[in-house]
Amino acid sequence: MGRPARPPPLEHAITHPVPARRVLVTGAGGQLGTALAEAFARDDVVALRREDWDVELPPPEGLEVVDLVLHAAAWTDVDGAESDPQGAAAVNVGGTQHAAELGAPLVYFSTDYVFDGRKRTPYVESDAANPRSAYGRTKLHGEGAAGEHAWIVRTSGLFGPTGDNFVRTMLRLGSERGEVAVVSDQRTSPTYVGHLAAAVRELVAQPHGTWHLAADGDCTWAELAEAVFAEAGLACRVRPISTAELGRPAPRPAYSVLRSERPEAPRLPHWREGLRECLARLV
Ligand SMILES: NC(=O)c1ccc[n+]([C@@H]2O[C@H](COP(=O)([O-])OP(=O)(O)OC[C@H]3O[C@@H](n4cnc5c(N)ncnc54)[C@H](OP(=O)(O)O)[C@@H]3O)[C@@H](O)[C@H]2O)c1
Repeated sequence: MGRPARPPPLEHAITHPVPARRVLVTGAGGQLGTALAEAFARDDVVALRREDWDVELPPPEGLEVVDLVLHAAAWTDVDGAESDPQGAAAVNVGGTQHAAELGAPLVYFSTDYVFDGRKRTPYVESDAANPRSAYGRTKLHGEGAAGEHAWIVRTSGLFGPTGDNFVRTMLRLGSERGEVAVVSDQRTSPTYVGHLAAAVRELVAQPHGTWHLAADGDCTWAELAEAVFAEAGLACRVRPISTAELGRPAPRPAYSVLRSERPEAPRLPHWREGLRECLARLV
C-alpha cells in the first residue's frame, strides 16, 4: 500500500481567489462613514462623500454595482430638524429610499432618539418607538424606507477621532475653560464609531432586521465629560445642569440606553474603553 496522499500546500490549493466584496459607503466624510471605510478596508470600498453623491438625489449615473451598502449619510442636526423637518426628511427618508434603490443589501443607521425615553431599563428591539423630535421621526421613517433587505442598526451617542462630536467638543472646551456646564439628566450609551464599525462587519453575517448596537455601560453627558477630562488629564470642572436649563429646541429622551435582546447580536466594548481608544488616536 502506498503512502496516503497529502493535501497540497495551501497556496497551491487556492486556484480561484475569492473576489472582493464591493462595499459602498454613503456619507463617507462623516465620523461613522470614516470608521466604516476603515473597518471594511479588506473589501473593495467605494467611499462616497456628499460631493460625490448628494443622497437627496437618485444614485449618480454609472455607479458601479455593489454587494453591500453602508448608508451613513444623514441629516444629524437634531435641533436644526425642528425648524426644517422637511429638509431633514429629504435626507433621512428620501436619501434612504435612494440608497435602497441600488438594490443591494443595506445597513441603515438609526438612533436611540426613536424612543421617548420614559423607560428606566434598556430599550430592546421589541420596544415600541415613539420619537419626540423631528429628527427622531425622520430617522424612524427612514427605517421603513430602507426596505426588506436591510439591517436597521440603532445606536447612540456616537463619537470618534473625526468630525463634530461631544468628546471632541469637550476636549476643546476643557483646554480653554476652567468649568463647563453639561446636562446630567440624559442617560445613554456613548458609542465609539470604531467599535460600532467593527460590530457592523460581524452583523452583516446575520439576518436582516432591527438590531440595537451600542456600547456596553451607560452614563450621563456630564459623566462622560468628567471621564474625558480625567482620561485627557484636563483640570476642567463639570457643572451639572438640567436639559431644561440648556434650553435646546429639540426634546431628547431622558433615558435611551440601548441593548439587544437578540442572543446572536455583536457585543460592543464598554464606552470607557471606546473613549480611551478614541483619545489614543487624538493625541
Ligand atoms: N452622531 C450620533 O450621536 C448618532 C447617534 C445615533 C445614530 N446616529 C446615526 O448614525 C449615522 C452616522 O452619523 P454620524 O455621527 O457619522 O454623522 P455625521 O458625522 O454628521 O455624518 C453624516 C454625513 O452625512 C453627510 N450628509 C448629510 N447630508 C447629506 C446628503 N444630502 N447627501 C450625502 N451626504 C450627506 C454629511 O456631510 P456634511 O458633513 O457635508 O454635512 C456627513 O458627512 C446617521 O445615520 C445618524 O443618524 C448618529
